[in-house]
Amino acid sequence: MDVTDPKRAAALAALQELPEHGVIGLGTGSTAKLFIDEVARLVRAGRRLVGVPTSEASRAQAEALGVPLLDDVGPWEIDVTVDGADEVDAALNLIKGGGAAHTREKIVNHASRKNVIVVDPAKLSRRLGEKWHVPIEVLPFGHASTARALGAHGTPSLRTREGANVRTDAGNLIYDLNAGVIADPAALDAALHAIPGVVETGLFVARADVVIVGGLPVRRLERGAAG
Ligand code: 5RP
Repeated sequence: MDVTDPKRAAALAALQELPEHGVIGLGTGSTAKLFIDEVARLVRAGRRLVGVPTSEASRAQAEALGVPLLDDVGPWEIDVTVDGADEVDAALNLIKGGGAAHTREKIVNHASRKNVIVVDPAKLSRRLGEKWHVPIEVLPFGHASTARALGAHGTPSLRTREGANVRTDAGNLIYDLNAGVIADPAALDAALHAIPGVVETGLFVARADVVIVGGLPVRRLERGAAG
């Protein structure tokens, strides 16, 4: 494995966080994809690991590689979830949702005893919003009205790709909110949740137990111990 690729190095280091046997939350994105490849390798080697995927893309990958999966309903007892992030602040709060999967990712995160985030060093910042806008999953019904309300907290942009609106796995839309540098991520998260039509935000406040930063050397940051 090429551990000079920071994402790959982080994915590989995350294997140390797994139990010998158990239920693993499978994140979404290019770094989580590398991790799922490694989980499949462990399963082939005889480890009894069962996954809960956070997106249809991660489900398809895990299924194709022979990783057994739990159903979509739960309730799950997830030992560890390993997922990526788009931005990580000094307190290990996160912005997620670059892959439009943050609602399922947040549900799985909350069902996990331990959450491990795998990133490359470019994702680190002092405060959230320095590098990334906040993805917000929004119901299609009345979404322009929802966007107008989001405008009280920054500048929302409807996410499109190749001229079409991006849809989440649930068929909803994504607005990326430029809220500038975010002084209080928990307060912004609460304010956004109060807007009718908002399904979920990409703000993950105090939801990472460990952040593994790929690179030479690989760094392991623990919430509370980060400085
Ligand atoms: C998907 C996510 C991803 O974890 C995030 O976008 C990071 O992706 P990558 O590892 O490709 O940089 O939140 O919704």
